[in-house]
Amino acid sequence: MSHLDPQHLRRAFGSFLTGVTVVTTVDAAGNRYGFTANSFTSVSIDPPLLLVCPGKFLSSFDAFRTCTHFVVNILAEGQEDIANIFAGFKGDRFAQVEWSPNEKGVPVLGQAATYFSCDTHQIIPAGDHVILMGEVTEFEKSDQRGLGYSSGRFFSLGLERDAAMPHPDSQSVAGVIVEHKGHILLQDTPQGWSLPHVTIDADHSARQTLADYFNTADMPLTLGKAFSIFSDRPSGTRFTYIQAQVTADHSNTLGTFVPISNLSNYRMRSEAETSMLARYALERDTGHFGLYVGNEQSGDIHSYDERT
Ligand SMILES: Cc1cc2nc3c(=O)[nH]c(=O)nc-3n(C[C@H](O)[C@H](O)[C@H](O)COP(=O)(O)O)c2cc1C
Repeated sequence: MSHLDPQHLRRAFGSFLTGVTVVTTVDAAGNRYGFTANSFTSVSIDPPLLLVCPGKFLSSFDAFRTCTHFVVNILAEGQEDIANIFAGFKGDRFAQVEWSPNEKGVPVLGQAATYFSCDTHQIIPAGDHVILMGEVTEFEKSDQRGLGYSSGRFFSLGLERDAAMPHPDSQSVAGVIVEHKGHILLQDTPQGWSLPHVTIDADHSARQTLADYFNTADMPLTLGKAFSIFSDRPSGTRFTYIQAQVTADHSNTLGTFVPISNLSNYRMRSEAETSMLARYALERDTGHFGLYVGNEQSGDIHSYDERT
């Protein structure tokens, strides 16, 4: 038994950014198996080898330990649901997703970013997992971006990049929802109350511009997750709103801290800010903040997976 704390070690391993795959196989009786795995690694081009590490705890461990063929499906952005199904769902996982058999009968998931059909090349015992090495016999790559995973959370490069960088062909504005002790910072403008916001220069990021703005006003912030990203089509302006916390009690020349419970009494300058703050107050109660991506009229709320 190692003297290292397994929980700490798991978390330390988890700080490595990975993609997400679903590994599938079929046994001689035609039963299908699949599990979500981020232990995928490409190994060799000639011969074409890859590996993935099934754990002994898997209900499908025996199937993978003895399989002659398997498929690694690299999940695309937006396929968090599929990752969750193949990590936790206890019923027939394949009834929940689109798939089709490859020529060996192994399920290939619909809309995966990339898949690799493999013959089992070698299985190496490795502690509480095995290393399942496959020789790639066939593969297909789409242009979709892969889904990311780090420290127990899924992330999407597209969304993160949009949140971090200004849009090239329109004006960009970054706003911030600054929370401090149950209050939100609002500014009084001639058009109504407003969240603090700054215009982004083409060669600067939203986060850096916001951080500079608040530092200059002697109010250092800790910026958090993006909360809303939308284009206002009539004005051609792209808005990125980011959550933030004030790091300490500082003098405040930037606006007024308003109790969250009282926000509905403040007439906001825009519809977008009104609905954003209503959602913020609601989601704050549950502790699960989503990310709105859309335009001034409609869009989707993406949930950040809060696995620990
Ligand atoms: C992002 C992610 C990556 C995972 N990577 C692996 C892995 O590499 N190897 C593994 O054995 N389990 C991994 N798991 C856990 C399995 O997917 C999960 O334990 C399994 O699907 C449970 O299946 P079962 O109910 O059939 O035992 C991962 C889970 C997630 C969410």
